[in-house]
Amino acid sequence: MRLAETTWPNVARYLEGCKGIVIPVGSTEQHGPSGPIGTDALVAQAIAEQAARHGPWLVAPTLSLAPAQFNLGFAGTISLRASTLMAVVGDVLGSLASQGFERFYFLNGHGANIAAVQAACQDFYAQWSLGQRSGQAPQCRLRSWWDYPRANDMRRELYGQWEGMHATPSELSIAMAVLGSAYPIGQAIEQPPQRLPDGYARLHAGDNHPDAHHHREQFPDGRVGSHSALARPEHGQALLEAAAQDAREDITQFFAS
Ligand code: NI
Repeated sequence: MRLAETTWPNVARYLEGCKGIVIPVGSTEQHGPSGPIGTDALVAQAIAEQAARHGPWLVAPTLSLAPAQFNLGFAGTISLRASTLMAVVGDVLGSLASQGFERFYFLNGHGANIAAVQAACQDFYAQWSLGQRSGQAPQCRLRSWWDYPRANDMRRELYGQWEGMHATPSELSIAMAVLGSAYPIGQAIEQPPQRLPDGYARLHAGDNHPDAHHHREQFPDGRVGSHSALARPEHGQALLEAAAQDAREDITQFFAS
């Protein structure tokens, strides 16, 4: 059930049975020459809604603006400061906690959200740790969809090393499945991208990239080791279902904890 499409009495009734809410988090940034700017938000929302279809959970509006300063050299990217996202997440948590929500599940589609969202959750908990708020502290969990075991196995199997880090064939496949005929008409580059140097992915996990000038110079077409042209809508449907199944299990466990 989408929060935006229900009423306050329905939410009040929901809270009598479940104190958890799913919050998709994405980004608005370039996804290579053939991928939609909103890929991360579309994908996180689609997985959250698919997971909630088989469970009774509320899904909050997607937080679709994110830290992405490294992609500002590409037209269309909008970047929040990490501190802005922290403030937004803190206000979202504070609002919902004041009404009785106790479990916040962030379903993430963008690496650079991880540090900011987790830091905001730490600041949120600190209010109880410091005795500024009483009672049992709520709990937050963040999971990035590509870390779900079924989805991760599937993307490794489908694309191997060409999955890469950004404008990945797996995320573009899911965007194709979600958007159908609304997927942007553009020519995917048939040539594979430059291979990422050994250790690059580990060193830059969570989109820990330097400034936009440097980033564009290093990855001129926006793909970061990802062979985007391998994306297929049928892969996307399978990846979406695998990730939603993983998400469903994780959310069920978390909301019951
Ligand atoms: Ni992405």
